[in-house]
Amino acid sequence: MKRIGILTSGGDAPGMNAAVRAVARTAMDNGLEVFGIRYGFAGLVAGDIFPLDSEDVAHKINTPGTFLYTARYPEFANEEGQLAGIAQLKKHGIDAVVVIGGDGSYHGALALTRRGFNSIGLPGTIDNDIPYTEATIGYDTACMTAMDAIDKIRDTASSHHRVFIVNVMGRNCGDIAMRVGVACGADAIVIPEKPYDVKEIADRLKAAQERGKDHGLVVVAEGVMTAEEFMAELKKYGDFDARANVLGHMQRGGTPTVSDRVLATKLGNAAVHLLLEGKGGLAVGMEHGEVTAHDILDLFENTHKGDYSLLKLNSEVSK
Ligand code: F6P
Repeated sequence: MKRIGILTSGGDAPGMNAAVRAVARTAMDNGLEVFGIRYGFAGLVAGDIFPLDSEDVAHKINTPGTFLYTARYPEFANEEGQLAGIAQLKKHGIDAVVVIGGDGSYHGALALTRRGFNSIGLPGTIDNDIPYTEATIGYDTACMTAMDAIDKIRDTASSHHRVFIVNVMGRNCGDIAMRVGVACGADAIVIPEKPYDVKEIADRLKAAQERGKDHGLVVVAEGVMTAEEFMAELKKYGDFDARANVLGHMQRGGTPTVSDRVLATKLGNAAVHLLLEGKGGLAVGMEHGEVTAHDILDLFENTHKGDYSLLKLNSEVSK
């Protein structure tokens, strides 16, 4: 193996640049040439491929977004897209590819491996919805960003004695909601993976008001429903002075936290070492503090399980 390519794919996540840097620097340290591929699989198919040197990844470890840019490109699921991508890899003499992204990106990495180009997937998404890793690159930063925003919402909520319903991202995964909900002292956390009772939440908010609490906070994962919809449900059980807030894409921005930078660096480094061993079709993650690698097929057959004990914890401490 002489040349590797790196791409970021799907929704961007803070720490993707740190991962690209780790892949590039580890590869260079092991005598490989490195190519960046812009705009994920769309750029691969279009041939938007350029050589990366050590300086190109300097001052990147602390930067948000992805300097390789990204795209959602479902067309790579088709044979036509894959063959076009392979043709571009051959044209540039690239032997293997590191893919940094979420679930969809792993399908692309597996397709490349099956077509003879070893590819390793790294979990780059704020959602934390990937199995076989205790954290995805970007999750910690997104939680920090959401926590910071909700702390500010709480300021105004307290001044007005209002209840705020706040939507956080996560697609169908409630991890951001659970972690941020606990960190912000939410009265209730609502996630798609577990049942919830709107009346019980309304009663809890009323009881808190009666105790003299000057604000209410319900963190609702976007996979459940919109904050507006949840507020309408809530108002069926009480005359709340409530406001709905959607944090949205701001959760994907910002400087990566120390956890995300270190995670990205460890996983990026491991990906290159696996490729040097001639391995592909693997997803690299962090389990119990150790870097691990699993067959991508195992990922598709398993679903991520969040730390649902956070719901009970929050329920006990937020009354
Ligand atoms: O997967 C990351 C994520 O931010 C999800 O939390 C969210 O549901 C989705 O991407 C939004 O996607 P887009 O930016 O394409 O609207």
